Amino acid sequence: MPKREPRIWTVDTPNTSYVVALDDEDRLHGLHWGPALTTEQAASLLDLPAPAPRPATDGLDARLDLSPGSALRWGQNGLQVRFADGTRDLELRFTHAETEERRLRLQFEDPHYRLDIAVEYTTRPDTDVIERRLSVRNRKTEPVELVRADSATWVLPRLEGYRLSRLHGEWGAETQLTRNELAYGETHFGSRRGLTSHQANPWLALDDGTATEHTGPVWSTTLAWSGTWRIGVERTVADRVAVSAGAGHDPVAITVGPGESWQSPLSSGVYTEGGFAASADAWHQYALAHVLPHPEELRPVLYNSWEATEFDIDADRQAALADKAAAMGCELFVMDDGWFGARTHDGAGLGDWTPNPDRFPKGLGPLIEHVHGLGMRFGIWVEPEMVNPDSDLYRAHPDWVYHQPHRRRTEMRNQLVLNIARTDVRAWMEDRLDRLLTENEIDFVKWDMNRSFTEAGWPGAEHPDDLWEGHTRNLYRVIDAIREKHPHVRIESCASGGGRVDFGILGRTDQVWTSDNTDAVDRIDIQEGFAQVYPARVMGTWVTDSPNPFTRREVPLDFRFHVAMAGVLAVGGDLEAWSESELERGAELVAAYKEVRPTVQHGRRTTLRAGEVRGAQFRLGDEVAVLAWRRGRSFGHDDPPLRLHGLDPAARYREAGTDRVHHGAVLAAHGLHLRLAPDDYASAAIRLVKED
Ligand code: DGJ
Repeated sequence: MPKREPRIWTVDTPNTSYVVALDDEDRLHGLHWGPALTTEQAASLLDLPAPAPRPATDGLDARLDLSPGSALRWGQNGLQVRFADGTRDLELRFTHAETEERRLRLQFEDPHYRLDIAVEYTTRPDTDVIERRLSVRNRKTEPVELVRADSATWVLPRLEGYRLSRLHGEWGAETQLTRNELAYGETHFGSRRGLTSHQANPWLALDDGTATEHTGPVWSTTLAWSGTWRIGVERTVADRVAVSAGAGHDPVAITVGPGESWQSPLSSGVYTEGGFAASADAWHQYALAHVLPHPEELRPVLYNSWEATEFDIDADRQAALADKAAAMGCELFVMDDGWFGARTHDGAGLGDWTPNPDRFPKGLGPLIEHVHGLGMRFGIWVEPEMVNPDSDLYRAHPDWVYHQPHRRRTEMRNQLVLNIARTDVRAWMEDRLDRLLTENEIDFVKWDMNRSFTEAGWPGAEHPDDLWEGHTRNLYRVIDAIREKHPHVRIESCASGGGRVDFGILGRTDQVWTSDNTDAVDRIDIQEGFAQVYPARVMGTWVTDSPNPFTRREVPLDFRFHVAMAGVLAVGGDLEAWSESELERGAELVAAYKEVRPTVQHGRRTTLRAGEVRGAQFRLGDEVAVLAWRRGRSFGHDDPPLRLHGLDPAARYREAGTDRVHHGAVLAAHGLHLRLAPDDYASAAIRLVKED
C-alpha cells in the first residue's frame, strides 16, 4: 500500500467503518467494511501484508473501490469509458478529498482527457447504511461515452466462504429468496427491460455461509434505480469479492457531452451483525427514516376493484362496491383500470385519460362524492407511460412511442411504451396527470406500468440510447412534479404487481403493489422475500376471493386476512359476491388489523418459523403483533411454540382479547403456544401488550 504519505479515509457509521486508501498509482483500494475502527486502528490496516501478487490471475480484481477499466484489471469494471478517439483505458490521478461532517468525496481526474470522476460516501447518525454515488464531469470538447458507470463498487473482506442471497422471480411470483454459495468468477443479475423487473430485484446480501436468521455478520447492498440496472459480484481465485452496482445495461452507453456532468443513482450498503434479521431490519429502518416521503403516516386499509370487476366497470357498480368496502372498514376506495377512453378491454384506450362517457356520463365527480360521503378517500388507476395503438393519442402521435426504423412495433398486452425521455411527451404526461388531479378530488393514484421495452429506439435523436436513462429520470421528474403540485395525493407504484419495487421509486411513492398473485399461500414466500429489504409499511396486500382467481386455490377467509395483515392490509375481492357472514368476519378482521396497524407498519419485523408454522412478528414500544400461518400439518405432529424475539425478558405480556399473560423470558426461550386448530390453513393474529 502507499509508500508516499498515507492517504486513507474512514467512513464511519454508528457501529461500522468502511475504509479506503490510495496506493502509489492513485488506485483506490477497499481495505475494510465491518465493525467500527478508530482512525488509529484503520491506519494499521496499511501495515497488513499485501496479498501475494498473482498478476497472471486476479491482478487488482475485486480489490478496488473505484474500479475503472484500466491496466492490470481483467475482471469486472465499475467504470468503463470510451473516448471519442477510441481510447478506453482510464488513467486516473487523485486530485483532492472533500470532507464534510457526514460526507466524503474523493475526486480524481484523467488529465489527458480532462474527465473528472468523484466517488462519494454519505452516512447518517441513525443508521449503519452508507449511501454512495459516482459523478462524472467532461471538461473536454468531445463527448465521452460511459459504457459502465456503477454507483459503487463495494469491496468485501476476506471470509472463509461466500454465500449470496438474492431475490429473483417472475410475474405472479416476485421476490423469491435464494441463498447459494457464490460461484468463482462473475455473477451478474439485473434488468434489460426498462424497469426494475419481476425477474431480479436490486438487492443482495453476502455472508460467509454460516449466518442464520439471528446470528452472524451480513453485508448487503441495494441500488435506488427503477430503470435498467446490473449488479455484478466478482469472486476471484484468490477469494477476493467485490460487488459493483449501477444503472444501465449492456450494450447501452450513456453519452456525457462536452462541459456536461452526470451523476449516478445511489447504491447503499450496510454491514450488520445479528444474522439476516438484523440486515433486513437495518434496511427497513433506513427506508422509514430516509427513503419514504411520508414514513410517519399510517397507510389506510384500501379497497381495490380490479379483481371484482376487471374492465367491466361503471359508476353504479363501483358505488355499490364502495358501500360494501366502507361497511367493512376500508378507508380508501381505488377504482382500477377501465374508467377512461375506450378502455372496455385491454385492446383500446390507453393514453386517453378522460372518463368513458358511457360509463361515467357525469364524469368522475358523482362517484368521488359518493366515496367521500362514505368517509373513504378516493384513488384511481393510471398507466401514464403506455399507449394502446387503438387510441386517440396514438392516432395523433404514432411517433411518440419507442420504435426503430424498419422494425416491427412489438405489442405486449396490446400496448406500446411512450417515449417519455422526449421533453414533449414528458410534458404531455405531466399535464394530463395534473389535469386529472386538478379536475377531480382524487386522493390516491395507483401508477401502473405493464410491459417491458422492445425495439427501444428514438429515431432522429442524437443519442438514441439516452432513452433508457431518460425514461426513468423523466418518470421521477413527473412524479416529483405531481407530488409538489398535489401534496395531499399519495401514490402506489405498480408494474404488473411488483415489477417496479426499489429504493428509487420508494423515494417518491407511498406504497407498492407487491404482486398480482393474491393467493395467500403463494404470498407467504413473496412477502418473506420482500421483507429482506423493504418494510411492511409499503407492502400492499389484498384479501381476495376463494377460490383465488389467480391460482384457483381455496383458502379460508381468516388465513387470507392473517397473511395480508403482515403488510398494508387491503381488500380486493368481489364483495358483492361475499356472504353476509364473510362480510361480517371481514369487518372484524379489518378492525383487528387496525389495532395492530401501527406495530405492523412502523414496528420492527422478524420472520418466525416453528415446524410447519410460518409467521412474522412486529414490535413497537410496548406492543407486539404476531401473525402465524400453517398450511397443513403431518399426522402425529403438533405445532411447536413460536419463539419471539427482542422482547423484554423481565416483562409480562398480556394477550389482547384473552386472559392469557406471557413472560417475556419464556416467550424468548420457549415460545408462544399458538393453539392453532388442527385443520389445514390454520392461522392466528395475536396482539401482545407489555404490562406495567
Ligand atoms: C396490473 C396490475 O398489477 C393490476 O393490479 C391491475 O391494476 C391491472 N394491471 C389493470 O390493468
